[in-house]
Amino acid sequence: MKFFIDTADLADIRDLAETGLVDGVTTNPSLAAKAGMKFTDLVKEICDVVPGPVSAEVTAPDHATMMREADHLRKIADNVCIKVPLTPDGLKTCRKLADDGTMVNVTLCFSPAQAILAAKAGAAFVSPFVGRLDDIGQDGLGLIAEIVSIYANYLDIGTEVLVASVRHPIHVTESAKLGAHVATMPPKVLRQLYNHPLTDKGLAAFTADWEKSGLKILED
Ligand code: E4P
Repeated sequence: MKFFIDTADLADIRDLAETGLVDGVTTNPSLAAKAGMKFTDLVKEICDVVPGPVSAEVTAPDHATMMREADHLRKIADNVCIKVPLTPDGLKTCRKLADDGTMVNVTLCFSPAQAILAAKAGAAFVSPFVGRLDDIGQDGLGLIAEIVSIYANYLDIGTEVLVASVRHPIHVTESAKLGAHVATMPPKVLRQLYNHPLTDKGLAAFTADWEKSGLKILED
């Protein structure tokens, strides 16, 4: 499973990139608004830090302007992935960009029918939002199961299921069990994946025994 981080915070992106665990980055207009810098400069900086796909979202509602925005964004770096909303204009833009060889992430997917449309439009990624479905009492992970199983019926579908709106580590582990290709998670969730109280307890005991023994790995 690939790990993307869902943030536009450059300090977090730099810090987590050093772990060697980050395969890409997703941003959205709300995250970018918090970064407090020119959007194109932000995208360029993120693309310099993380060599994998970096999703940058168009914001116009209509196909013609989406295409102009996408054209501007895709020139920033080879790893820019254009993010479009799951609307008729967004999918029209996706088809056109995909036909030109541009990576596209279709975002704001909330149903299996929408995911089928994204695949037909040639998306490199479809982003179903699990947390936002859970928030309204629906089954976010159930949607991931449905999309993964539908896509598996068709060998010609190259669209990867990118689990988005991840709120906690269980969203990540359950998505991995279902065979989702990618999870994009806030930095906090990626850091939470490391944690287990028995790891801390075990390490404290090993360290205490080692210190008492006077043994050394590196001689002075
Ligand atoms: C995906 O690409 C989106 O940026 C994101 O996962 C939205 O998550 P949220 O529901 O926590 O805002």
